[in-house]
Amino acid sequence: MPVPLLDLRAQHAAIRDTVVDKMMKVVDSQLFILGAAVEELESQVAKLSHSKYAVGCASGTDAILLAMRALDIGRGDEVITTPFTFFATAGTIHNVGATPVFVDIDPKTFNISPKAIATAITPRTKAIIPVDLFGQMAAMEEVSRVAKSIPVIEDAAQSIGARRSIDGESRMAGEPATIGTFSFFPSKNLGGYGDGGMIVTQDEKLATRLKRLRVHGGATQYFHDEVGFNSRLDALQAAVLSAKLPYLDGWSSKRRANAKFYGKALDGIEGLTTPFIDKNNESIFNQYTIRAERRDALQAFLKKKGIGSAIYYPLPLHLQPCFAYLGYKKGSMPESEKAAAEVLSLPIFPERTPARRDEVVAAVRKFYSK
Ligand SMILES: Cc1ncc(COP(=O)(O)O)c(C=O)c1O
Repeated sequence: MPVPLLDLRAQHAAIRDTVVDKMMKVVDSQLFILGAAVEELESQVAKLSHSKYAVGCASGTDAILLAMRALDIGRGDEVITTPFTFFATAGTIHNVGATPVFVDIDPKTFNISPKAIATAITPRTKAIIPVDLFGQMAAMEEVSRVAKSIPVIEDAAQSIGARRSIDGESRMAGEPATIGTFSFFPSKNLGGYGDGGMIVTQDEKLATRLKRLRVHGGATQYFHDEVGFNSRLDALQAAVLSAKLPYLDGWSSKRRANAKFYGKALDGIEGLTTPFIDKNNESIFNQYTIRAERRDALQAFLKKKGIGSAIYYPLPLHLQPCFAYLGYKKGSMPESEKAAAEVLSLPIFPERTPARRDEVVAAVRKFYSK
């Protein structure tokens, strides 16, 4: 029986009517851009992420871009981030005219190392962007400590609904930062039927500015205080996401249960390391990512058996050809480079049946018995 990395059709089959009903309300209203459906989702996401304000936008990429524009980041500024992430985290820094400054990761969690951030701060540092990779929040309290008054943008594209215990309080993804950003790309735990994104903050001024920036910089139609973007969340996507949001917690719990199962079932295999779970964190496991010796051979073996897997991410951002101008050399971010050579994400989606789950484990075990 083939086991895909992700099976969105199984999820869709279970909630189709609920989602379609909500979409049809938008269709019947013929109000497709921003409006009530987007506002409803914004208040749901603000509540979920313990944030005062939420601003919908066109994608998770735009959410980071808008966040930087709202913080007046541009030419001559430096923004510190991790090289072990999806391209958008750093591509947006370049696109606002600032310079990405990469620092290495903590090998245990794959998230940015707060100690490394401290060594890279200069008078030109205007923001720090930690990423909650694979659904596990970064060490936000340590990042904030080293950041002092420098704004922190938490790229929470992969972690909506994740929690971290900070000073004894349970904090949600996006909550502890100056600005938190989400993606609703279909493969995320809360995925739309197309692109979508959202920004959360506790700061009213930033929220007002973000709302203006997403509509070409004009608070009043046809009057522009500044040049912004067309980055609106469309109402149909908002309807889909509002309909799906009540299921998110249940889906993420199932992913955690699947991770726990893998943790036990794959324990003790020489050459394979299961993900480190930070005791302060409740990950949403957008991905279940192991470190594997002979990784490429393992992936080929799984493929032959019809088991899906993926490498997130094969080339760290400091070594991408488009960032050659920054001057980073191979070997400059050893932990990110090592992770890129070893990681493999296995199927963890909530609808995965016990039989499929056993099949993944049996195949991995077989590979390492050879
Ligand atoms: C860490 C990270 N940042 C940013 C993004 C960009 O989000 P989007 O694809 O919605 O633009 C993604 C999503 O793929 C992501 O995983």
